[in-house]
Amino acid sequence: MERIRLGVNIDHVATLRQARKALQPDPVWAAAAATLAGADGITVHLRSDRRHIQDRDVQLLRQTVNTHLNVELAADDEMVGLMIDIVPDAVCLVPENPNEITTEGGLDLQKAGDRVARAATQLKAAGISVTCFIEPDDKQVKLARKLGADSIEINTNAFSLARGDRIKKETARVAQAAKLAQKLGLDVHAGHGLDYFNLLPMIGIPQITELNIGHAIIARAVLVGLDKAVRDMKALLER
Ligand code: PXP
Repeated sequence: MERIRLGVNIDHVATLRQARKALQPDPVWAAAAATLAGADGITVHLRSDRRHIQDRDVQLLRQTVNTHLNVELAADDEMVGLMIDIVPDAVCLVPENPNEITTEGGLDLQKAGDRVARAATQLKAAGISVTCFIEPDDKQVKLARKLGADSIEINTNAFSLARGDRIKKETARVAQAAKLAQKLGLDVHAGHGLDYFNLLPMIGIPQITELNIGHAIIARAVLVGLDKAVRDMKALLER
């Protein structure tokens, strides 16, 4: 079985920086650290409201990420135009609701079909691989294929929230969508809500080639890295 690629989503690093409108922590530094630790790619979500990742971040990441740069964004003309200038390796088209805390669900490709097809055509013409973030649903998988996506990213939010018997059911839904997608020639990614405790069933789905994980990794970094951060400050004070 091929190894699953890990895309590390570093949005939360930018969220912390924007909380103070400061220079640190810089997501560009975080991308370097994640890459040194073995990340196969860096993922950021350039939201229309620019609440965390900024245009400057994506521009600098394009110049510095030598693995795989994946940018999540809404399928609108302004964002697609920006990507055509920056040329990340991949764009993952996601639905965006200005009031949401995080992406709330997959794209409804029946409703958003025209916009997504136009975005996919423009992005692919610029040499950018196109992913559609969708629910594990056969209809959505088929539409993603029809609209010209290279890959799908299956929303694992429902799986991540599942407890007890529901875990098996949600795993089966993801597995079924993954199987169909691969049969249709789509590369299969997954992500949202995955963490160190719930991840295992996803690793068992052979069609999944990439997982994008953010919150759990940055949350753990705060705790496993806090020890060193305090020790470093104490060492400075004791000089
Ligand atoms: N994939 C997509 C499309 C997302 O919107 C997000 C959240 O930004 C993720 C993956 C990562 O989710 P999490 O931060 O819960 O790991």
